[in-house]
Amino acid sequence: MDQCFQSSCSTYIGNGLAKTYFTLFLASMLKNQCDLGGPYPEDKGNLLNSGNLPKEYDFIVVGAGSAGCVMASRLTENPDWRVLLIEEGGEPEANSDVPAFTYQPQISNLWLYSTEPQPGACEGFPNKVCGWPRGKGLGGSSSVNSMLYVRGSKHDYNKWYSYGNPGWDFKNVLYYFKKSENASIHRLRQSKYHGTKGYLITSDGFDHTFDKVADLFYSAIDELGFRKSHDLNNGSPNGYGPVQTTIGNGVRWNAARAFLTPVKDRQNLYVVQKSHVTKLLIKDTAVYGVEIDRDGVRYDFTATKEVIVSAGTINTPQLLMLSGIGPKQHLNDLNIPVVKNLPVGENLQDHLLFFSYVAINPIKLDIKDDLDIVYDLLKFRNGSLTKIGFLPLTGFLNFTCGDSVSPDIQFHNFYFPKGTKYDIAQILGRYPAENRNLILEKNKDYDIFFLTPTLISPKSRGKILLNSTNPFDHAKIFANYLSHPDDIKTFLKGIHVVQDIVNSEPFKAVNASFVYAKYEKCSSFKDGSDEYWNCLFTQAASTIFHPAGTCRMGPRDDPRTVVDPTLKVVGVDNLRVVDASVMPDLPSGNINAPVLMIAEKAADLIKIDWKFITPPIIDEIYD
Ligand SMILES: Cc1cc2nc3c(=O)[nH]c(=O)nc-3n(C[C@H](O)[C@H](O)[C@H](O)COP(=O)(O)OP(=O)(O)OC[C@H]3O[C@@H](n4cnc5c(N)ncnc54)[C@H](O)[C@@H]3O)c2cc1C
Ligand SMILES: *[C@@H]1O[C@H](CO)[C@@H](O)[C@H](O)[C@H]1NC(C)=O
Ligand SMILES: *[C@@H]1O[C@H](CO)[C@@H](O)[C@H](O)[C@H]1NC(C)=O
Ligand SMILES: *[C@@H]1O[C@H](CO)[C@@H](O)[C@H](O)[C@H]1NC(C)=O
Ligand SMILES: *[C@@H]1O[C@H](CO)[C@@H](O)[C@H](O)[C@H]1NC(C)=O
Ligand SMILES: *[C@@H]1O[C@H](CO)[C@@H](O)[C@H](O)[C@H]1NC(C)=O
Repeated sequence: MDQCFQSSCSTYIGNGLAKTYFTLFLASMLKNQCDLGGPYPEDKGNLLNSGNLPKEYDFIVVGAGSAGCVMASRLTENPDWRVLLIEEGGEPEANSDVPAFTYQPQISNLWLYSTEPQPGACEGFPNKVCGWPRGKGLGGSSSVNSMLYVRGSKHDYNKWYSYGNPGWDFKNVLYYFKKSENASIHRLRQSKYHGTKGYLITSDGFDHTFDKVADLFYSAIDELGFRKSHDLNNGSPNGYGPVQTTIGNGVRWNAARAFLTPVKDRQNLYVVQKSHVTKLLIKDTAVYGVEIDRDGVRYDFTATKEVIVSAGTINTPQLLMLSGIGPKQHLNDLNIPVVKNLPVGENLQDHLLFFSYVAINPIKLDIKDDLDIVYDLLKFRNGSLTKIGFLPLTGFLNFTCGDSVSPDIQFHNFYFPKGTKYDIAQILGRYPAENRNLILEKNKDYDIFFLTPTLISPKSRGKILLNSTNPFDHAKIFANYLSHPDDIKTFLKGIHVVQDIVNSEPFKAVNASFVYAKYEKCSSFKDGSDEYWNCLFTQAASTIFHPAGTCRMGPRDDPRTVVDPTLKVVGVDNLRVVDASVMPDLPSGNINAPVLMIAEKAADLIKIDWKFITPPIIDEIYD
């Protein structure tokens, strides 16, 4: 601290109260800055060198992402169970913790995957592929996501149940959504749909600096006749409203902060970071441990009860296939001895999002200057940096069948006031420079909306395959986007709603107009025509980062099944998969909350199997 003064104007500061007060102030800000992070469980991998890390555990969890953090937290509630949690990355950095910086690059916290090129999708991006970043490090993708807390529709889970998955209907999963949640929004704390005793803080992430923008938006929505919803997480998301966010006490409530931080000192919890699980150890068809690589050195660990793989939709099937669990033909092609022939890697699905750009005359907003919002964050944990801007205003529309099934389009809306400094360029990072500049130029004089239909009940399916037997090689991702013709049709209906918004009286009053992106392949179509939009989907639609489904849950006798309804891998002993890959279908919304729910339920299933608890009584009936 003294150095600060010496380097600037130490003679002027002198000594006494002036120096004391200024020093106190700066020291407290520095401390508050550090307090934004963690504290997380220490990296027990440091004990490996000295041979002081136990080799044997009751349970081993692979991956400290959304699901893995819940698993380690809940399983260590039994003090007699020793649990090892192994994670590829380290602790999240400050860009992760400050909600408003969610679009800042966090390269060290990411796996940078790309899809394989395919005709009809992602054609307008470099190398004709879509980028698929996944989170790496404590919290996994929950440490890099946009913090939207969305559960989807009750019909999503009733459909899972109808496929032959007892215990996964809405009534049952709601119990676990509630178990995980500590709702901080006052009006929701009394709601029968929300929990207040869980580890995951949910809150209102809307930045009220943008109230006037919300008013404009809602008046257009009213004119169009859409419903305004005060809780999109009540099982029947339909209409527009503010979404809830996983932000607590002004910072990102990633899964590690939520579920591991409160239990970080448990003696039976061993978290090993910066280590790559390379293989499951299997004898005949029984899993008995894992092999890891840390700094190029190999170590083995054994699990006396179970190994739980929570490495995410891409890495979980990769690890299973590397270990001999997967499609027989594919494993044979790579000379991997087959332990169990299962459709691992199939049933891949993702939510596709499309940015349409709309310019409006600038709305006068009371935006505070940067230093003030930094002070608000560090001193009070409030203000604009603790929010995610305008994005939280989201909407769900039921085009196909009204309320009787899940919605098929969700809107994620972005708003950038005139002269926005960073976010547009960052968000459009992989879009062609020509189009990026078009938007940035327009933003010099106008406010810009990104009105973004998102395909939330896609019919297209893709798959994941190994590229090689090297565990450090990336798997191949065949997204197979828009391969089902209905998906393009639904997308177009989403754009028609955007057109209605732009043509509404409130939007006309602010001179709203589309900014049409230009793609060579689409140049023969008239701007704004259906042909133009259909063509643009093939060029510019991209992921909203919800890949799922690659280890499908289902009845044991269904050939599409990888895990049974207790998430045990079929035909392999002592192995479960617990993460986004077990979803039979994507829920119709963002999927972090559903993944946490799955893990909460899985932890109970395991505790029941090993007789630590008896099944909870779930007797509340919801309409
Ligand atoms: C940029 C982005 C934005 C998103 N926005 C939202 C949003 O706003 N709202 C929402 O609900 N959802 C959002 N999502 C999706 C959501 O966050 C993820 O679906 C969810 O976190 C997935 O949880 P998971 O447990 O399946 O996998 P992950 O959280 O990805 O966890 C997998 C973990 O396993 C580790 N791992 C993988 N392989 C190995 C290995 N071999 N050895 C050791 N460790 C390994 C990884 O490093 C990672 O930490 C977003 C995702 C991204 C990437
Ligand atoms: C829920 O969150 C609030 C802060 O919003 C905190 O004070 C309270 O202790 C939390 N409850 C639990 C059960 O963790
Ligand atoms: C932040 O909290 C402080 C102290 O409670 C309060 O005075 C201030 O108005 C708050 N600021 C914002 C932007 O909410
Ligand atoms: C969508 O839901 C609303 C409200 O329940 C209903 O009135 C409307 O008919 C539905 N729309 C369609 C296209 O089914
Ligand atoms: C697969 O391996 C080939 C050959 O080494 C390489 O060119 C390609 O980039 C790899 N694909 C992925 C997805 O890593
Ligand atoms: C409306 O927008 C158009 C183009 O975006 C611009 O040329 C025009 O001057 C604007 N009109 C008003 C009244 O602001």
